[in-house]
Amino acid sequence: MALQDLYSNIHLLMRWLHVIAGITWIGHLYFFNFVNVPLQAALDDAGKKAVNPQMMPRTLWWFRWGAMITLLAGLWLFVQIYFYIPGEGFAATSLLVDAEGMTDRSIWILFGMLFGIIMWFNVWIIIWPIQKKILGGTASAEELPKIRRRAFLASRANTYLSGPMLFGMLAPSHYGAINWVTALIALTLGLLAIHHSIRSSSKVGKSV
Ligand code: HEM
Repeated sequence: MALQDLYSNIHLLMRWLHVIAGITWIGHLYFFNFVNVPLQAALDDAGKKAVNPQMMPRTLWWFRWGAMITLLAGLWLFVQIYFYIPGEGFAATSLLVDAEGMTDRSIWILFGMLFGIIMWFNVWIIIWPIQKKILGGTASAEELPKIRRRAFLASRANTYLSGPMLFGMLAPSHYGAINWVTALIALTLGLLAIHHSIRSSSKVGKSV
């Protein structure tokens, strides 16, 4: 029965693609922020020259294409869940609006998507063009510290945004109710968890 249901099968496949690409993206983001920042601080110039030309192009490839596939599969899911009625075609579904207006589910996903889309923008419009310049050796010595700092701040901002973003991804189909209190709790818990991880990152793993 389920195998013949094209809508459900595509839905599951796109959910799987979205989450596996999201893991790839955010996994690399956390590697950069929790592992690589303290690692670079510990390496001398010779160490950086040996490690970075090998590591950075590889990690940045998975990072940026993970972000791209996460976004595309996420937009697909958004349209399929909220703007497509099987057998009828494209139209606002009851998961988007009901008699009382926008549903809590759709408000949660818009909360998550707002953060996710800002994060995608930071990857493709700020971080990657700067890294391409740095890796390609086309940045002048004068602009190098400035653009490095810009990329670092965009990456840090994404790390913080990822905490609340994930609540916005999980709550639509696993929680439901949204109001100022639940949204504020998601925002605060998400930001605190990331803040704690960043603060711990210079200390962890030194003595293992
Ligand atoms: C980049 C922009 C993003 C968009 C447009 C987007 C969109 C969506 C949509 C529409 C859903 C389905 C919501 C529902 O069931 O009502 C969803 C679910 C989800 N997304 Fe995203 N998302 C984005 C980023 C991310 C990122 C970065 C992650 C990181 C891992 C992520 C992880 C998830 C997870 C785990 C689910 C729930 C899957 C489930 O419960 O079955 N998303 N997303």
